[in-house]
Amino acid sequence: MEERDSYQGWPHGAAVIGAGTMGLGVAECFAAAGISVVLTDATPELTREAKRRLVRRAKGHADAGLLAESVVGRVEAAETADDAAGAVGDVDLVFEAVPEDIGLKEEILGACSEGAPEDAVIVSNTSSLPINDLSEFVGRPERFCGMHWFNPPEWTPGVEVIPAAATAPEVVERLVEFLRAIGKRPAVVGDGPGFVANRLQNALFLEAVRCVEEGLASPQEVDEVVRSCFGFRLPFFGPFQISDMAGLDVYENVLDVLKEGLGDRFEAPQSLRRLVEEGRTGTKSGAGFLEYTDEERERLLLERDRRYAALNELLEQLPPVDAGSGAGPW
Ligand SMILES: NC(=O)c1ccc[n+]([C@@H]2O[C@H](COP(=O)([O-])OP(=O)(O)OC[C@H]3O[C@@H](n4cnc5c(N)ncnc54)[C@H](O)[C@@H]3O)[C@@H](O)[C@H]2O)c1
Repeated sequence: MEERDSYQGWPHGAAVIGAGTMGLGVAECFAAAGISVVLTDATPELTREAKRRLVRRAKGHADAGLLAESVVGRVEAAETADDAAGAVGDVDLVFEAVPEDIGLKEEILGACSEGAPEDAVIVSNTSSLPINDLSEFVGRPERFCGMHWFNPPEWTPGVEVIPAAATAPEVVERLVEFLRAIGKRPAVVGDGPGFVANRLQNALFLEAVRCVEEGLASPQEVDEVVRSCFGFRLPFFGPFQISDMAGLDVYENVLDVLKEGLGDRFEAPQSLRRLVEEGRTGTKSGAGFLEYTDEERERLLLERDRRYAALNELLEQLPPVDAGSGAGPW
């Protein structure tokens, strides 16, 4: 496995506060990139144990060929501090990943903003707490921002960057540039409930549970449908490109049937109806949610097929992940 060059840009040093599922993965990611990391957890003993787990985890990744052996040394060099105040004194970036409890976040973000250098940027990995509310716990909130990673953080490329009303635009730009530089794919999104990813993910989850509760399919069958039917496309395309390729008129017709059977939550959005009325039915008409020249459309469809074929080949090479059996509570 190739080693990435040590990262030379901002930040040079980062504190990771809360070394659990997410904090440890992000710490590995930062350290592997060449950023000096200071790690802390709830107690000095938990922090020491977290450091041991961090090193074990990096060695495990190196043994599995997922991380260059030489990068393990960068992870071993991560420092520890006894508490948040002690971790943040000399860093440019503070990454908060303590449990999802607003009182605890208030305490930790307050301590970080008092202890960190004035120009250090402070981010929270919260999955659901409003970023505007959290920004009130930080002195100089213009340097505070949401930065929502996904599990496992080392390997999931997407990161939601969620500015608060007070966040300075240059802080957002700096975070986006930094995430791109270490190989992530940031998207700047608004501070609505669940931001974007959790809102979408939970809409799918709710319908999946309903399908099982209504006896339409077993959990295993639902998982197979999601993975192998429409979910098969998701590493490459999102809902807008996918619906443009399928035809927005087709989507409108299907939504009308779903609404009749399942109710108003499937009402076709006005923006979709308007596009269909205007003849913007997707790639086949040259425009849908997005616009396509003839040449772009041909390239998109060919690249789609190339990617799907490559994914099929990859799936055939990998052993199946058959885990979990039984029918659950249904
Ligand atoms: N688990 C996920 O898939 C996921 C994904 C995205 C975002 N998040 C968010 O990330 C944050 C952390 O989640 P997690 O899953 O890593 O939780 P976790 O419980 O695995 O880890 C939290 C860590 O914080 C430590 N901690 C508790 N009190 C502390 C204190 N006072 N000071 C320092 N550390 C303290 C805990 O000991 C623990 O090690 C939450 O806000 C969560 O919503 C989680």
